[in-house]
Amino acid sequence: MSFARAAEIEQTLEIAANSSGDLNGAVYARLFAAYPETEPLFALDRDGQVRGAMMAHVFQTILDFIGARHYAHRFIQTEIVTHEGYNVPRDAFAAFFAMVRDELRTVCADGWTPAMESAWEQLLNEIGAYVAAAPKVG
Ligand code: HEM
Repeated sequence: MSFARAAEIEQTLEIAANSSGDLNGAVYARLFAAYPETEPLFALDRDGQVRGAMMAHVFQTILDFIGARHYAHRFIQTEIVTHEGYNVPRDAFAAFFAMVRDELRTVCADGWTPAMESAWEQLLNEIGAYVAAAPKVG
């Protein structure tokens, strides 16, 4: 299985990769604004290595999800359960992908097209379906 609108998603990621801003920092700023209770979870991550590694996983997950989908759908579901162990609410976990989209939209600015918007909408819906179907533990 893969994702029909991969090209539009890849374009948005490429534009962001070629921009000079701090994409990761901006996404975490969105997270901490929307879910302030998640900021202390990273208190021990003084040098940002955990946040950087997590963000790299998020982008790799998106790329695999829109491509070969070798593991992304299962990884999302297992990470939801792992993250519940860190006290990360499920809705916050799912919303993280939307925050990535929101930041990409900001970075792409005038380059953001209606096709990109609808491709991301579809991607978030498909990811959301896996989130909703993740096993409940405990
Ligand atoms: C609200 C959203 C999220 C929060 C608050 C959150 C929080 C955290 C925290 C606190 C850790 C560090 C755990 C520790 O080592 O003590 C972590 C690690 C990690 N997170 Fe998240 N996470 C979120 C979303 C995601 C998403 C969407 C993914 C992937 C699809 C993900 C993948 C990972 C991975 C792979 C690690 C381990 C990183 C490493 O140390 O190599 N997280 N997360």
